[in-house]
Amino acid sequence: MLDRAKNRGTPAFFRDAVGEEYLFYSGTSKNPEDTEVSVAPSLVRLKLVRSAGAHPYLRVDGRAMDVVWQNPGPPVISSDGGKDAIVWVLDENAARSAILTGPRAPQPVLYAIDAKTLNVLWKSGSGFLQASGKYNSPTIADGTVYVGTDRIVAFGIGGSNEEPAIPRSQSPAVDFAAAPPPTESKSVGPPEVNGKAVLQRACVQCHEIGVATRTRYTEAGWRRMVDTMVERGAVLSEPEIADVIAYLTKYYGKTDVNKATAAQIEKGLGLTEQEARAIVSYREQNGDIKSMKQLKSVPGVSPEKIQAKVAAVAFHE
Ligand code: HEC
Repeated sequence: MLDRAKNRGTPAFFRDAVGEEYLFYSGTSKNPEDTEVSVAPSLVRLKLVRSAGAHPYLRVDGRAMDVVWQNPGPPVISSDGGKDAIVWVLDENAARSAILTGPRAPQPVLYAIDAKTLNVLWKSGSGFLQASGKYNSPTIADGTVYVGTDRIVAFGIGGSNEEPAIPRSQSPAVDFAAAPPPTESKSVGPPEVNGKAVLQRACVQCHEIGVATRTRYTEAGWRRMVDTMVERGAVLSEPEIADVIAYLTKYYGKTDVNKATAAQIEKGLGLTEQEARAIVSYREQNGDIKSMKQLKSVPGVSPEKIQAKVAAVAFHE
């Protein structure tokens, strides 16, 4: 029942530079076949039509058709003296019945919509904003958009301040399909298979998989990272932790050429057993290897093979 709710927000009024008056209204239109399913438009523009001798009335003047919100708050409009207006909406990004605490708490998303075309100009990255109340909305002052969730985040419009500045176009969505394909052999053993399933279940509750896999880490680095995520609220059993670390180390791993065993170097960097041993004996004689250049100069090691694996090389944990 709860998830059939269509709107709990208030419309926003906007008068443009030439004096035209509009209302912007956000909500969740529902599929008539199944009234719990949200469909576009989630934002409409109404024009206040005033004609001499008649009462003013509102006419639907535009619909945002390229976005479906799950539970948006009221729109807020920014403009440059009535020009280049942007409609800002914070979508709770979950059904109305969603619980706002715990690891599955909704992750709201802030949208910037072109007031004229009603196209999405930009949206905040998945998992960027913390859990928020329902029907929350941003506040805007002097070109800065403030969003108060469990912490306050300020977004600068085209400013030169530090991140996150709002990019001109929507940032590309990173998802698992876009993640680099496995570079190792195709045969996947059970820990990797389990680990992938764990990643797809437990690591997407707060952010996209792309956030988890955007940087490579050594096995120790992944262990620390997964520990951090568990502290943050990721729900994982001990065997699941081991599996996900094994998977991430295999496909998104780095090899610490100063600590790894010859067997690990061989596997991690795709070298021959002989080449891996050459690296180990080199570091035993010369101390830690400090740079790619030095690594490539190790006698008996193919610099081309090292270059091919540059992203997977680490000089410390
Ligand atoms: C309870 C919420 C939550 C869960 C579940 C979760 N993460 Fe995260 N993770 C975060 C937050 C918050 C950030 C920081 C926001 C960001 O970088 O987008 C983050 C960021 C990351 C980063 C980027 C860190 C960096 O500095 O670049 C990695 C890697 C990561 N998570 C891995 C994982 C893995 C692997 C799992 C599953 C085992 C996981 N996360 C599950 C909350 C979570």
